[in-house]
Amino acid sequence: MLGECLAPTAEMGYLLNVRAPKEVEIYPDAGTLARAAANYFVVLAREALAAHGRFGVALAGGATPQAMYAWLATDEFATHVDWQRVHLFWGDERCVAPDHPDSNYRMVRQAWLDHVSIPADNVHRIQGEIEPAQAAADYEQVLRTFFSLPLVGPETHNKPPPPRFDLILLGMGDDGHTASLFPGAAAIRERRRWVVADYVEKLGAWRVTLAPAVINAAADVIFLVSGPGKAERLRQVLAEPHQPDRLPAQIVRPAHGRLRWLVDAAAATLLRRD
Ligand code: 6PG
Repeated sequence: MLGECLAPTAEMGYLLNVRAPKEVEIYPDAGTLARAAANYFVVLAREALAAHGRFGVALAGGATPQAMYAWLATDEFATHVDWQRVHLFWGDERCVAPDHPDSNYRMVRQAWLDHVSIPADNVHRIQGEIEPAQAAADYEQVLRTFFSLPLVGPETHNKPPPPRFDLILLGMGDDGHTASLFPGAAAIRERRRWVVADYVEKLGAWRVTLAPAVINAAADVIFLVSGPGKAERLRQVLAEPHQPDRLPAQIVRPAHGRLRWLVDAAAATLLRRD
């Protein structure tokens, strides 16, 4: 199973008779989508460990990736990764305590981390429990330290390039948001900061999110999109002209990395057909 299906195969998934862009892979259902995503995670982790001795990944929050994380907790997948050299980060976090039901960290811990032996020092959560702007600034320093990037002050003109994650996992909301980059958010246009705190009006809540520059610096970016409720927005994001303020997921265009959309058939129903 492991590694042999980096692209959809008959038993893993199937491509609907749609003319989706080349980076879109369509799976029959949420279960095969989750399993394929876990497979990609392990294969990319092994590649990174072989290439440079560690695997830095930013995790997606929300509901869709939970099944993927649960697969990664099983022996079928967990035994293939040297967790001592895997470092987990979050693409975004809700500004709540780490044990709050809305916490992305809590979701990942319950679905996966409580079931594998990954060193606590390798788990780099965003501190949702502290003041949002401070949480964002602190997380940016966490990234500088991990990626050995120079500290800069507000007076620094030529900021170093953003950190390059080996993998960033993303979901997509039915409004086209990704991470916590919501329609109309100033964070969509952020150029200097790597981590941003944003008050999301529609949610009446603060979020902390990686900025587009960090997402687009990644070696691999994988979207996970599942369910009929995402179909129209997925079609817009993939097929309509570039308008990231309205469709923030469109801001994701890795400069030198690979972008993959792993979607299930229910989310793919409106993609153009041959
Ligand atoms: C979050 C996520 C967010 C999520 C989308 C899709 O904190 O909620 O980071 O970007 O990926 O909202 O969420 P679902 O997978 O629950 O549909």
